[in-house]
Amino acid sequence: MKKTPFLFGLCLLSVQLFSQTNGKAPQLGKDKIEAVIAAMTPEEKVYMLMGLGDANWSNPSSGEKTVIVSGSAGRTWNIPRLGITPAVVADGPAGLRIDAHPEKTLSFYCTAFPTSSALASTWNTALVENVGKAMGNEVLEYGLDALLAPAINIHRNPLCGRNFEYYSEDPLVAGKMGAAMIRGLQSNGVGTSLKHFAANNIETNRTIINAVISQRALREIYLRGFEIAVKEGQPWTVMSSYNRLNGFYTSENYDLITTILRNEWRFKGIVMSDWWGGADAVAQMNAGNDLLMPGCAQREELLKALKNKTIDEEVINRNLARILTFVQQTPRFKGYAYSCHPDLKAHAQISRLAATEGMVLLKNDFNTLPLKGIKKIALFGKTSYRFIAGGTGSGEVNYEKAISIKDGFINGGYQIVQPLEAIYTHFIDTILTNSKKENKKQLVDFHTELPLKNEQIQAQVKGSDMAIITIGRNAGEGSDRSIADFSLTTTEKNLIKDVSAAYHAAGKKVVVILNIGGVIATTDWRDDPDAILLAWQTGQEGGNALVDILKGLVNPSGKLPMSFPIAYADVPSAKSFPGEPKENPLNAPYEEGIYVGYRYYDTFKVPTAYEFGYGLSYTQFLYSDITLDSKTFSDKITVTLTVKNIGKVAGKEAVQLYLSTPQTEMEKPEQELKAFAKTNLLKPGESQQLSFTLDSRLLASFHSGISTWVADKGTYEIRMGASSKDIRLKASFDVPQTILVEKDHNVLYPNRLFKELSIQKD
Ligand code: BGC
Repeated sequence: MKKTPFLFGLCLLSVQLFSQTNGKAPQLGKDKIEAVIAAMTPEEKVYMLMGLGDANWSNPSSGEKTVIVSGSAGRTWNIPRLGITPAVVADGPAGLRIDAHPEKTLSFYCTAFPTSSALASTWNTALVENVGKAMGNEVLEYGLDALLAPAINIHRNPLCGRNFEYYSEDPLVAGKMGAAMIRGLQSNGVGTSLKHFAANNIETNRTIINAVISQRALREIYLRGFEIAVKEGQPWTVMSSYNRLNGFYTSENYDLITTILRNEWRFKGIVMSDWWGGADAVAQMNAGNDLLMPGCAQREELLKALKNKTIDEEVINRNLARILTFVQQTPRFKGYAYSCHPDLKAHAQISRLAATEGMVLLKNDFNTLPLKGIKKIALFGKTSYRFIAGGTGSGEVNYEKAISIKDGFINGGYQIVQPLEAIYTHFIDTILTNSKKENKKQLVDFHTELPLKNEQIQAQVKGSDMAIITIGRNAGEGSDRSIADFSLTTTEKNLIKDVSAAYHAAGKKVVVILNIGGVIATTDWRDDPDAILLAWQTGQEGGNALVDILKGLVNPSGKLPMSFPIAYADVPSAKSFPGEPKENPLNAPYEEGIYVGYRYYDTFKVPTAYEFGYGLSYTQFLYSDITLDSKTFSDKITVTLTVKNIGKVAGKEAVQLYLSTPQTEMEKPEQELKAFAKTNLLKPGESQQLSFTLDSRLLASFHSGISTWVADKGTYEIRMGASSKDIRLKASFDVPQTILVEKDHNVLYPNRLFKELSIQKD
């Protein structure tokens, strides 16, 4: 964003204005917020409604230091004469993102935690809350006031470039994980920003694209996760998204930000825009988008509007009151003396534990894993030597060192065979040396794989006990992935095929590790290796965590929070993604409606490669003794069951409750996830009883004709599953009369006609 000389002038004027102190002026924290607002000049009011500009900008004329923490994403204005301190905010979902220049003072490394998709794969909200606690401690101790996280948009399509920052294709998982993360982070007395509100599922043309979504799909899928996270997490702030939704920018949409978020869900904090998001500052203010980030660009426009009275001063005062309430909560306002020394060692351990629990074992023929009698390992694939800890963009973390898969094996006491290591190291060095780019951080991740000759592969077999092949993928905000990126390249497939053939001929095993941020194709290569472990992008301890699983020190208990389709064409939104027209999309009709992910595959009987909720373990669990506290629903129903470890090693199990609801004139998906829980670590022979309570809202679907959540009368089936397909126990209950559970506002209708997918034939 370019700054005009006028804006520079305005910024300068403001610095002078704010440096004049007045002993009698009301003080934030001591006097009423209304009194502080009443004492503000029009300029001060307008400046306070937005950040101080691009975080990297500092005022050249005054020398004023606008960047308080290097690498933070932005800050709010400070007005010393009124006791208003700045609030400093930074990204992001996988850990604090600030600059780390070891040569500079006050520049620090942070811990890279597993990305959100990996965290969701744990199905363990207590663990996610704990990760949030550790992340939030870095926010506090490095002098930040709020973290721009969690991000909980739905994985609508596997090609969305930001899926790694998001949790799941299911709103319950996304909402519960988001709420847990918020609770953990905010337990430090720092803020969060739940983002990107809402329907930010496409990165192509992200600042102009219009997501066209039916009211039902919005309420049940795209808003539902936010509703859960707001109600159960109480974030200090929410970030509106870049996209348009049903015709309007989300940051300019009163119905979204005020009617739904504030009036229906009782959100109490501030709404901030995404960086330079939206187009009309006055509309944003009116909608209730209190804070414009990173700010500065809209000062002139808002000041003019205030002076011309084309914006009601009451609106400005309302938004200011919210911003000042937020500022008052911050550690900086409270004078917290941050140490700059969070316990990075302890946080690395938390990152490692979370990483192991998020890894998903997709295949394990002949109990290949855990490894037995293996000493020497042949490591194939460039990603084996350059681990991808996280995605690119604002979801990235500046960590000190990521443990590669190679390092993980060495730390675990294994030997890595030569000359393979030398071949790959040379390949990686060549990629880095040949590139003219200054920032070489992710070059290797995006580079094509090294083709190996058969002799090169054969040469490894004798000297190694087994082969590991790592497949890597990276992506990030600002663009979506391509179908080519979803598929494995011919070189990658050949590598898997040839290595598998060579090792199998010698009676040795092959394991494929997936160090990826989003869903990829698996069915055209998965038959070749003996085992497949989906490691995800698991933060800086990835290599160690992975070897903990491969060795059997930790029993894998991760399960998929999204479906892995057989082919990209099977994805319900494949035809319309990213939008219309395809090359330069402006509109994105969500034609699949409520049928996102497993809701589609299960209802339309489309087979998947790995279904939602899938994941193997080194042990087995028996589900038994399902009971309901009543056969008839009045206002709640509780289901209880027992899960027993009947295998030979200790393990945890992610237990999933699906509900099949009566089909009426309002069509329903085949089943929907309504609750889930992770057992404790169960020793062999040990059992645990789990209970889940469903209220009427969980039974209900959104009837857009009457804008009401309705639980239809009829028989409901509870399905307790180890995955969405592996249903172990069933029980049913009746709802004797249709229940009108909650009437909501009839808002956010699509601005274009489009045909939504339906199971009812025309
Ligand atoms: C991203 C946000 C991020 C912000 C600040 C934007 O580009 O969409 O998620 O918080 O930048 O870095």
